[in-house]
Amino acid sequence: MNPEIALSRTAPEDGSTTFTPAQLGHRRLHRIVFSEEAIQRRVAELGREIAACYGPEDDVLVLGLLKGSFIFVADLVRQIRMPIQVDFLVASSYGKGRVSSGEIKLWYNPGASIENRNVVLVEDIIDSGNTIQRVIPMLMEMNPASLELCTLLHKRLVRLPREARWVGFDAPEEFLVGYGLDFAEDFRHLPYVGSI
Ligand code: IMP
Ligand code: MG
Repeated sequence: MNPEIALSRTAPEDGSTTFTPAQLGHRRLHRIVFSEEAIQRRVAELGREIAACYGPEDDVLVLGLLKGSFIFVADLVRQIRMPIQVDFLVASSYGKGRVSSGEIKLWYNPGASIENRNVVLVEDIIDSGNTIQRVIPMLMEMNPASLELCTLLHKRLVRLPREARWVGFDAPEEFLVGYGLDFAEDFRHLPYVGSI
């Protein structure tokens, strides 16, 4: 792949907007992996697929795992054309490195009750699966009517006991940033997913 693609000043043919070198703080992305347009198309499909799985009587709560899912959740919920509610929980791993430390900090503020509700847990990316395997049992203890997982990206390195029902894209084994994903808190605001 051409490393210059992320640095192009003109929009590539697929219409996605790239950041200029200055806008990237003169740091280089290796390549764009999923363009803004490809992500938006897939998110619209996911929204339709999720809506199709629930009836009008179902009490659906979309629960985003912060921080990485914040942009994905914001776009996804606008594509779910049915009554839903939205809340977030906070979990973090990795710290400043690129490799999962295996240690996960979990803060949960149950602003919304989960009991007897249909929860759609939204992740940015499943890598080692550590985060999700910690969070799911905790949520199951709160007796949701159902719990399904939606992730934008899945590296397919592990098979989870409870596999994601909706996956945006299978992700390559690269360190990905943008569209919510960070490297040491940088690059979250890029409208596309790139690798570094
Ligand atoms: P896991 O616990 O190893 O599955 O990793 C889950 C979390 O690690 C994700 O929610 C991300 O915040 C972070 N993560 C995993 N892989 C990447 C990556 O390639 N880029 C940025 N963050 C990542
Ligand atoms: Mg992260």
